[in-house]
Amino acid sequence: MGKSSKDKRDAYYRLAKEQGWRARSAFKLLQIDEQFDLFHDVTRVVDLCAAPGSWSQVLSRVLIKGESFGRRAWEEKQVRERKIIYGEGKDGNAGEVEDGKEEGDQDTGGELRPREGVKIVAVDLQPMAHLEGITTLKGDITHPGTILRILQALDPDTYKPDEGQGESGSNPVDLVLSDGAPDVTGLHDLDIYIQSQLLYSALNLALKILKPGGKFVAKVFRGKDVDLIYAQLRCFFKNVHCAKPRSSRASSLEAFVVCQGFEMPKGFVLDPARPVGLGAQVPVPPKKSKAENEKEGFVDGQRRTVRNDGITVVELDSDNEDDTRWIAPFVACGDLSAWDADATYHLPKDRVSLDPVQPPTAPPYKRALELRRQRGGLYGKTGKGSKEREGVV
Ligand SMILES: C[S@@+](CC[C@H](N)C(=O)[O-])C[C@H]1O[C@@H](n2cnc3c(N)ncnc32)[C@H](O)[C@@H]1O
Repeated sequence: MGKSSKDKRDAYYRLAKEQGWRARSAFKLLQIDEQFDLFHDVTRVVDLCAAPGSWSQVLSRVLIKGESFGRRAWEEKQVRERKIIYGEGKDGNAGEVEDGKEEGDQDTGGELRPREGVKIVAVDLQPMAHLEGITTLKGDITHPGTILRILQALDPDTYKPDEGQGESGSNPVDLVLSDGAPDVTGLHDLDIYIQSQLLYSALNLALKILKPGGKFVAKVFRGKDVDLIYAQLRCFFKNVHCAKPRSSRASSLEAFVVCQGFEMPKGFVLDPARPVGLGAQVPVPPKKSKAENEKEGFVDGQRRTVRNDGITVVELDSDNEDDTRWIAPFVACGDLSAWDADATYHLPKDRVSLDPVQPPTAPPYKRALELRRQRGGLYGKTGKGSKEREGVV
């Protein structure tokens, strides 16, 4: 597929190039943030499976530079315009906090709001082109040694690997992200399994470095047993949602678990020899009697609560036959007026197709491309268009 064709068929691919993002995935993180206010009070972040680096770019621009995007940027623009038109800020209303906003959330008139003490560490199997303010590590998140490298990168001055448990001197982080995806084979069960193993590796890392109350966001493929993963995550986080950003194709199994309010269960000790996801060591709450369940508002084994944001949460009582499952609330996020990731759009006639912002530095398919070039282009064709097809990123 040539670049122009991809521009038409994938609005987010085109937008990413226009807005300077290294990958279209940037919009997924921005849309998740829009829904969950993910970056609120966040300064220390670990971005797992980060290459080519569009999520790290988002982190850098929001946390280090202090930029705003999407609905937040639009709301701030509205406030700025109101100030200009009505002169707000000069009269008695100056500094008044709008309903629903906290004192620290006041608009600053469009100025950038860089945060203090920001630390971002990005990890990937692939090398990643440098990004200002981000520490990048080439590493495998499934390898036990990677955690020590992350801790060292987070606090190079205070981390002491050889003292005590080997992890002293590193401060916990507010947010762990993982957009990890295997090279998909097309065999759904296998792809879902490998993807879940990446998620468990990311979770095991997160359990070691998150501060109490911290957040964890990870890509998940919604296979038939995904509710088991939700239930396990629920043991460690107060809130677990399944989020589907508008920029993620509806036709794809991909979604993101958004876990907030990290709390290590009482008495739970992380065992490096039996990490979470291996066997059944995740604590399962003891079963309650029927009377106890009814007292807590369960009717026919279910309790439904509608939250302030309109989301209905369905909980199954602990008397349920299969109590290792739990249904995470599903949240579609991203403005409804945003581009549809599954639609094809017409492009203006005079439109120039842009090159990708940051082509992969050492993609696993590099050698294959070189061989193909030597043999005269894609499938041996050297005619018009073959160069473009080869350059697909
Ligand atoms: C969808 S891409 C991530 C895109 C990235 N979030 C961005 O915004 O640019 C998935 C990444 O997972 C990485 N990955 C897969 N398995 C990994 C592993 N075991 N350890 C580290 N990275 C891994 C791949 O190298 C790939 O770069």
